[in-house]
Amino acid sequence: MNTLRVALLGCGVVGSEVARQLTEHSADLAARAGAQLELAGVAVRRLERDRSATGVDPSLFTTDAAGLVSRPDVDLVVEVVGGIEPARGLILAAMERGKSVVTANKALLADDGHALHTAADKHGVDLYYEAAVAGAIPLLRPLRESLAGDHVTRVLGIVNGTTNYILDQMDSNGTGFAEALEEAQALGYAEADPTADVEGFDASAKAAILAGIAFHSPVTSADVHREGIANVTSADVASARAMGAVVKLLAICELTNGGSTVGVRVHPAMIPRTHPLAGVRGAYNAVFVEAEYAGQLMFYGPGAGGAPTASAVLGDLVTVARNRAGGVVGPGGSWYADRPVRPMGET
Ligand code: HSE
Repeated sequence: MNTLRVALLGCGVVGSEVARQLTEHSADLAARAGAQLELAGVAVRRLERDRSATGVDPSLFTTDAAGLVSRPDVDLVVEVVGGIEPARGLILAAMERGKSVVTANKALLADDGHALHTAADKHGVDLYYEAAVAGAIPLLRPLRESLAGDHVTRVLGIVNGTTNYILDQMDSNGTGFAEALEEAQALGYAEADPTADVEGFDASAKAAILAGIAFHSPVTSADVHREGIANVTSADVASARAMGAVVKLLAICELTNGGSTVGVRVHPAMIPRTHPLAGVRGAYNAVFVEAEYAGQLMFYGPGAGGAPTASAVLGDLVTVARNRAGGVVGPGGSWYADRPVRPMGET
């Protein structure tokens, strides 16, 4: 059986789970991928940390991410470092050398997804990022592939597990904001800087990625009207409850002006307790998709955490291996529509 050697960039909450699952389930993954997926190296910031739980051979850890990406024996690159740089430079360097990339990096994709897809097309490599939006939920591939024959008009949902966990704890247990945030951090849901969750930057990045795929138009985080949950108080949550409603941080992506423009926004909203989104608890995510012919679809599942997010990364890795075996590359950005993105209230 053919062997594909994988460079893993990052070994935090998600990366360590990718390494663990890749090592523990190597036989199953090989059978599905049609190739043995072997770790060639794991790039980390600090070598001294105890990473024995990953089951990875300690000699594979390196602090030289750039060196790892350019090694000729590396076939595929998995980037779970997050942030803009050095992730962008490493991904582009990998693609230039003909290596396909799997990433969970929503901030980078929402900032510069067009450039990454352009580079992938130019070098004839795959770029997959199912884990970047809504953790384990299969969402981007269904939007891009299963609904390719339809006409998506609206995508609406809860796409940040940390804020949903906080709002849920405030609503169900009367937990204070700060305590609920600490719990979300301890459970591995929050970003390294939880401001990204609380202020809605994380949800905005995911909304931009969703809108870009759904409406075939380049959308960036800067295009998203954003309001986080920092100003939502226990009193707000309690008065919503008294009215038979619940507060949720929603991401709303829709075609506007008869389909000629795109509107994307993230903000807290009160929704009736009878609405399916009101029942989304803890760090779970849920996304409604409305399409002209399919009607309403709902995607639901764990939206954060190491193991669920790693599941999506490994699914992408198997897909890339299958594509490679078949001599094909997956669908690219497909941003042919070029609809302008209009800020809220502007027509
Ligand atoms: N911090 C993110 C969240 C992680 O809470 O949803 C998953 O993207």
